[in-house]
Amino acid sequence: MSGNVKLELRNLTTLYKSGDGVRNINLTVNKGELVTLLGPSGCGKTTILRTIGGFIPATSGQILIDGKDITHLQPEKRPTAMVFQSYNLWPHMTVYENMAFGLKLRKVPKNEQKRRITEMLELVKMTGYEKKYPGQMSGGQQQRIAIGRSLLLQPDVLLLDEPFSALDAKIRSQMREELRKIQTDLGITVVFVTHDQEEAMALSDRIVVMNKGTFEQVGTPQEIYNHPVSRYVADFIGEMNFIPMLDGSTKAVRPENISVSHGTGKDLDGYVRTIMMLGHYIEMTVDTDIGIVKLYITAEEAEQYKKGDPVTLTLGDYRTYSDHQSAAK
Ligand SMILES: Nc1ncnc2c1ncn2[C@@H]1O[C@H](COP(=O)(O)OP(=O)(O)O)[C@@H](O)[C@H]1O
Ligand SMILES: [Mg+2]
Repeated sequence: MSGNVKLELRNLTTLYKSGDGVRNINLTVNKGELVTLLGPSGCGKTTILRTIGGFIPATSGQILIDGKDITHLQPEKRPTAMVFQSYNLWPHMTVYENMAFGLKLRKVPKNEQKRRITEMLELVKMTGYEKKYPGQMSGGQQQRIAIGRSLLLQPDVLLLDEPFSALDAKIRSQMREELRKIQTDLGITVVFVTHDQEEAMALSDRIVVMNKGTFEQVGTPQEIYNHPVSRYVADFIGEMNFIPMLDGSTKAVRPENISVSHGTGKDLDGYVRTIMMLGHYIEMTVDTDIGIVKLYITAEEAEQYKKGDPVTLTLGDYRTYSDHQSAAK
C-alpha cells in the first residue's frame, strides 16, 4: 500500500434489514484529499459516511485508516469526526462549552483547551462568540462552530454529511470556500457528502458519482464533467442536451459546445425560443423537432437574435450513448 493513502474502503457492504444500503464499495482517499460522494437522495451517501464513522455496522468488507483496520472499532475509538447537516451543537451549552466538551473528555489541560479553542475560533472566523448559545446564532455561524468543534479533535479523517445544505445560496458558497481553505491549510483528509453537483464540482479533488447504492464513476471534477462514463453521470453533472439520433443512439452535448447561426442546414434546425441573461453568461433555448436545445451565447450574439428567428445549430464536442449504461466517444 502506498504511504500516501489515508482511508481505504475494501469491498464495503452495509445493508439494512430492508435490503437497502450500499454494496461492494471500493475507494481510496489520499492524505489531504477532499473526496465527495455525490448522488440523489437515497443513493447511500449517508450510509457510507456513517459506516466509516462507526455509527452503523458494516455488513461485510473493511475500512482502513493509515493501513489499520478500524471496521469493528467503536465510533469514539476511531480517528474520525463527523459533522451533520443539522449542526448538532448542544443547545444548553455556550459556544466555548460546546467546543471544550470533546477536549475535556480527552483530558486536555484547561489552559491548552483555551489556547486551542481561541485558535480554532479565529480559523472559523467566530472570535468573540465564546459566550453565545447556538440559538443566538445563524445557521451558517452554527455550522462554523460545528466544523471547528470537530477539527479540534484533530481527526485523521473528517466526515461531512451535507453540512451546508440548510444554508442559503450565498452563505453556502462562502462556507465552501472557507472549508476548502481550512482543509488545504491544515492538510486534513475529508469525505464530503452532497446531492448538489455544483457544490461537488467547486469543492472536490475527486468526486464519486453514486447511483442506487453503487459507484457510477470516480474522477476529478474535470474528468467527470468532460468524460462522463454513462448517460446517468452526463445527466447528473452540469447541463447536458440529449439528442436522439436516427440510429437509436443518443448524442450528449454540453450547452457550451453548441454554436448558433441564422438560417437552416447545419446539424439541427429550429426557432429561437428564449434568450436569457444568467449572470455572466447568456442562455438561448431553441425549439427543434427533437425538443428544446439549450446553448450559451455571447452578448454580441444575443443582440443578433430574437424570439422566433429561424436558426441552425452546430453540435461541437459530443459523446454518444448507445443505451442508458454505456458510453463511447
Ligand atoms: N436506518 C435505516 N433503516 C433502513 N433503511 C435505511 C435507513 N437509513 C437509510 N435507509 C435506506 O438506505 C438507502 C440509502 O440511504 P442513505 O444512505 O440515507 O442515502 P443518502 O444519504 O444518499 O440520501 C435508502 O434506500 C434509504 O431509504
Ligand atoms: Mg443522506
